[in-house]
Amino acid sequence: MPHSKPRLIVIDTDPGIDDAIGILLALASPEFSIAGMTTVAGNIGIETTTRNAGRLLAFAGREDIPVFAGAATPLSRPGPEPLNLHGKDGIGGVDLPDPTKQPEIQPAVAWLTELLLSEPAGTIDVLALGPLTNIARLILEKPDAATRIGRIVAMGGVIHETGNVGLRSEFNLWADPEAAAVVVASGLPLALVPLDVTRRVRATRDFAQALAASGRPLAAMVADLIESYFETTTHRESRPLHDPCVMLLALAPELFRLEDLRLSVSTGSAEEAGALTIDENGTQVQVAMGVDAPAALDLLVAKLTAI
Ligand code: RIB
Ligand code: CA
Repeated sequence: MPHSKPRLIVIDTDPGIDDAIGILLALASPEFSIAGMTTVAGNIGIETTTRNAGRLLAFAGREDIPVFAGAATPLSRPGPEPLNLHGKDGIGGVDLPDPTKQPEIQPAVAWLTELLLSEPAGTIDVLALGPLTNIARLILEKPDAATRIGRIVAMGGVIHETGNVGLRSEFNLWADPEAAAVVVASGLPLALVPLDVTRRVRATRDFAQALAASGRPLAAMVADLIESYFETTTHRESRPLHDPCVMLLALAPELFRLEDLRLSVSTGSAEEAGALTIDENGTQVQVAMGVDAPAALDLLVAKLTAI
């Protein structure tokens, strides 16, 4: 990560097991100064994603970081059913404390607007781990603030591989394709981390056990989260660390191969919704198309066991 002083970031998230791992990685990384977390419905409903954000901060002793509840539903279509993948509590049933601080009263987009207008333009990055509804609303309702975002790094989409919802659709973009279309078409500096890359960064049970053996609290919690990821699926040798790849790209871009692609987002119905198409009339976006997965996993371990 090129910045010498901590980079001011906002984490927009729908925790979610893999979101939680990414959030704990960010909390363990002094390269980031987390201004706040904004929550969105996605893996599970907004009350639970917001509660889980608070639980993670309570666990890490970081109640100084505020949580702002965002969109309960997509821009213009019904929200997805909760994913069983993340368990009934949305975070794999791991032993996290209750939140020790309530979410802020201010809605997410209002806070994002205030923050972006109060800090120098370009000094805040948004790490987006869920459906892009909050960011799309910011762009639509408060464009003067949105244009002050330094960069959006978002987990979403799939380019050449098969989707995880439909043939060409990935959950975050599928859950709110209109929002994804707004964010991609906005022309804001955007780096997408699609399934083509996140499926390469995989955690095995041995990887989890090595984290647990470190005896470090955040590493041990990530080990529990990975183990729970195995419980909610069957017959899998390893689990993809989708959302942590956003933090890993922000921390160590040299581990990723980025391509500039001109993309459009389908807002069609059913399986096509959220599908990305390489389109000469689309908007240029940086897309991570390659990763040094072993080095990325080593970096994850190094950060989680250093705190
Ligand atoms: O497709 C993977 C994405 O969908 C991840 O962000 C995961 O948390 C779910 O939200
Ligand atoms: Ca997520």
